[in-house]
This record gives sequence, structure tokens and C-alpha cells, in this order.
Amino acid sequence: MENFKNSTVYQIYIKSFKDTSGNGFGDIRGITEKLDYLKELGVDYVWITPFFKSPQRDNGYDVSDYTAVDSMFGTMEDVEELIAQAESRGIGCMFDMVFNHTSTEHEWFQRALRGEPEYMDYYIFRDGEPDAPPTNWQSKFGGPAWEYVPHLKKWYLHLFDVTQADLNWENSQVREELKQVIRFWKDKGVKGFRFDVVNLISKPELFEDDDRGDGRRFYTDGPHVHEYLKELVRDTGIGEMVTVGEMSSTSLENCIRYTRPEEHEFSMCFNFHHLKVDYKDGNKWEPKEPDHEELKRLLMQWQEGMQAEQGWNAMFWCNHDQPRAVSRFGDDKKYWKESAKMLATSIHLLRGTPYIFQGEELGMTNAGFKDISEYRDVESINYYEIMQSEGKTRKEALDILAARSRDNGRTPMQWDGSRYAGFSQGEPWIGIPENHSYINAQAEAADSGSILNYYKRLIALRKEYKVISEGEIEFIYREHPQVLAYRRSCQGQELVVLANMKAAAVDLGEKPELEGYRQLIGNYAGAECEQTLEQLKPYECRVYIRTL
Ligand code: GLC
Repeated sequence: MENFKNSTVYQIYIKSFKDTSGNGFGDIRGITEKLDYLKELGVDYVWITPFFKSPQRDNGYDVSDYTAVDSMFGTMEDVEELIAQAESRGIGCMFDMVFNHTSTEHEWFQRALRGEPEYMDYYIFRDGEPDAPPTNWQSKFGGPAWEYVPHLKKWYLHLFDVTQADLNWENSQVREELKQVIRFWKDKGVKGFRFDVVNLISKPELFEDDDRGDGRRFYTDGPHVHEYLKELVRDTGIGEMVTVGEMSSTSLENCIRYTRPEEHEFSMCFNFHHLKVDYKDGNKWEPKEPDHEELKRLLMQWQEGMQAEQGWNAMFWCNHDQPRAVSRFGDDKKYWKESAKMLATSIHLLRGTPYIFQGEELGMTNAGFKDISEYRDVESINYYEIMQSEGKTRKEALDILAARSRDNGRTPMQWDGSRYAGFSQGEPWIGIPENHSYINAQAEAADSGSILNYYKRLIALRKEYKVISEGEIEFIYREHPQVLAYRRSCQGQELVVLANMKAAAVDLGEKPELEGYRQLIGNYAGAECEQTLEQLKPYECRVYIRTL
């Protein structure tokens, strides 16, 4: 069994990681070239976002052939070389399985469009008049979730873009096809898998209108999802590997079932509740200041809930669908370093497996785009129009995109301070923030107080102390409005983490009980470090340890 508890996973968004061909898009060889950097950082696995054949309408999450490498990223030989080179450095590759839907360019969908009944049953087609979609459900990228195909006189379901048709998991042949995909990559030597929006695969028997309008309650953690996952895991033998499911709008009860060992589903899962604390009324396109009390409440609820039932969390702030955490929950100017380190500490020392999204270890910030022409993401471009049609001005829509767009996380990895940040010789497919002059891997490797070196230390600590990877968690200062604080304990070792989540210095109220503890790590150094136990500086975090 792979040990995923003392591991750290690094997420690579291939299009923006490293380009070796000079065409402005990252590629497989770019990842191979940077394996030494990743080894030095200390990560155990790399999750690589989809590089399979795809029209790239949703940057590879629209797959047209699951076992072919898209030529824009390289060849199958490049992939084999990457897997081998990673393995020789003790790094396992995790590939990204997009099994809720395929691209409409996938052969299966093309055959469905030709009216072949066998393939029509691979997708979710429903009869209907051209002006009356089967239900009122909304696509997650905006607009209706159904598309009409005139020559078939039927609608097909797409929970995401119109070019991402949902697969029919009720059809056992579909499930067999997908198992074959897993076996194919497993035979190539990958060590794990990430499953894209996999809690949406089981649709309801009856398709009905939703009084809430979007339909998600009918298909989120749907009726047969656990059955299907158990079958997939059993029949492909991936129970021995590291697996992580991306769970959209899920519940704690379901995540316990997805991850507790006796269920034989996944090693761990992502949920996104803690990343909605800056949404007004749950609406991503109505930003508000992060609600730190709500953030704490959610973290406590999930940590305690998962622990009580032996579930396991994937812990993260950033990925390719999220704005950069330091810009969102920290301060990417005055307290850039402090807040980036505090965010890292607070998430890496919770109970679960931490994920680092490329560039997060450098404190990379939001993109700072000011014009719609700078955006590439299909969701952002759709919502730019939708927001204006709903009454927002152009300026308001752009300001919201600047805070919310997924492209904030998709700008090229900042390797050095040169023109294209050492990402490519040619012009990158998407703009690079100006701050790459000082926020970059080269500069940070040379600075002992950098965010990068802090991440290295955190990753190493996880290997050194079982209390980090396996300790029980108990929250302290539970009612404090801005300090996230907890104690971990394991076999006579105890760890205390105190993190001030805001820019204002703060009193803890009561002195922490730290008899016999020593400080293990913290984000204020040298002269700045003079501490009174009960006060935390802006974004300050401290970690103490003792052995009983
Ligand atoms: C997941 C991916 C996202 C993609 C969506 C549809 O949420 O992370 O990038 O757009 O699924 O596949």
C-alpha cells in the first residue's frame, strides 16, 4: 500500500509548467526537465493535469482520446520517459482521469451523433422539442445543461461546457471502457490517480426540474456513486495506489464513505467548502471579504468529522480552478512572505495529505489581468458576458474576474526573472505577472528566508514527525475569531500550531499551555521573532513540539 499519509503531492498544470519546445505551451519534457527541482523540494507525488488528446476547449478536461497523448504536449515516449525518470527520483506520477464526461470530439460521441444506438447509450440523450430542454438544469460554466441535436431530435446532458458531454455510467459497457483506461495507465507505471468531478457520475433515474434552478442536488453524490467507485477500484486493483477524488459540492457524510479504508473507494478526497467563504450567498461571482470564522468552523467540522470516522482529507488552498491563496486569504504585498508561510503552515499541519499547486511554494499571486483579451478560460469568458447581461458594468465584471477567474492560477510557473520567466523561449499562451522579477524559483532558492525554503522545511518535517502525518487533531482557541489553532498528538509526541489568519496583530486571550515545548518552525525570524506567548503578529504562525 502506498503511504499517502506522510506524503506531499505537487500539482502540475502542464500547460503552464515548463515549455521545452518554444511554442508557448508547457509540455511533458518540461516536467521531466524539472524533476530535480521537485526532488529537491521533497514531494512524493506529482499529479499532472490532463495531457490526453483533446480539443482544449477546457484545457484538456475535454478528452477526445484517453490513451493518446496530445501532440501539443509531446509523445507517448515522452510520457514513458517521465514516469521512469520520476520513479528513479522516488517521485510517483498521478494522472488525471476525467470520467464524468468526454469531449464531443471523442469517437464515442461522434458515433452517437451518427445515431449508432450502442454509442448513444454511452451518453445521456433525452427526447424533446427543440424549445423545451428535458429539465431546467444549469451548466456549471453558465447557460443550460442540455444541448439539442436537431437531426436526432434529442437533447444531451452536459454539466460543464457544451463540448463536454456527460457519460452514462448506468451503462456497464461505459464502466468497462473506463476501467480499461485505468489499466492502460497503470501498466505504464503510474502510481496513482486523481478523478475529476467524480461525485457527479451517477445521475438520477428520473430527470426533473429543480426548484432551486441548477439541478445539482439530483446528481451530486448521486444514487449509485459509491457502488460505481467500489466496482472501479475493485476491478482495476487501484486500491493499493494513491487515489484522490475531486468532490464537487459534496457532504461530509459522503466524503467519509469515499475515503474510509473499509469502504475500498479512494485514499482521500478534495472538497471545496472552505474555498467558498469569500462567496456572497454561495455565489462565486459575488465576491466578499473572506469570513475567517466560517473558514475555521468548516475546517474544524471537516477535520473532526473525518477523524471520527477514519476518513482522510486532501488538504489544499490552491489548484488550477482557484485564485492564488496568498492574494485571496493573505496579503500579496505588505505581508506577502508572512501570509504565504502562514497559509502553508496552517494547511500542511492539519490532518490529511497536503497538496501544493505549482508556484504556491513561491508565493505566486493572482494574475492582475485588466482586459478581457488577457483571459483564456472558457468559464471566465462566459461569465464576463453573463455578468454584464445581468446588469454589471464592464468594469465591475472585470474586477470580479480579477479576483475570481481560474486564470489567476494558470499563469506560467515563475522559474526566473527573465522576460518569459524561464517558462518558455517563445511567447506564453497566457500572460505572466510582472512580479516574476522577484517572485521566482531561482531567486527564492538562493534566499534562506524565502517561501520556497519554508515549504521545503514543512515537507521535510512531515517525514520526520509521525505526529504530523498521523497524529490525532484537537482544536484549541475554538471560539477565537481569527486564530486557527490546534494540537496534534501521536505516541507521546505533541504539536501545537497557532496561526493568525489576519493582518491585525492579535491577543490570544489566554496564554497557551506550552510547558516543555520548543518552537519547531514559524514565519517570523531573527529580531522580529521576539515573542510574547499570548500575542501573534500580523499573519504570524508558530509551531511548537514536545515529546512526553
Ligand atoms: C474539474 C476540473 C476543472 C474542469 C472541470 C470539468 O473541476 O478541475 O478544471 O473544468 O472539472 O472537467
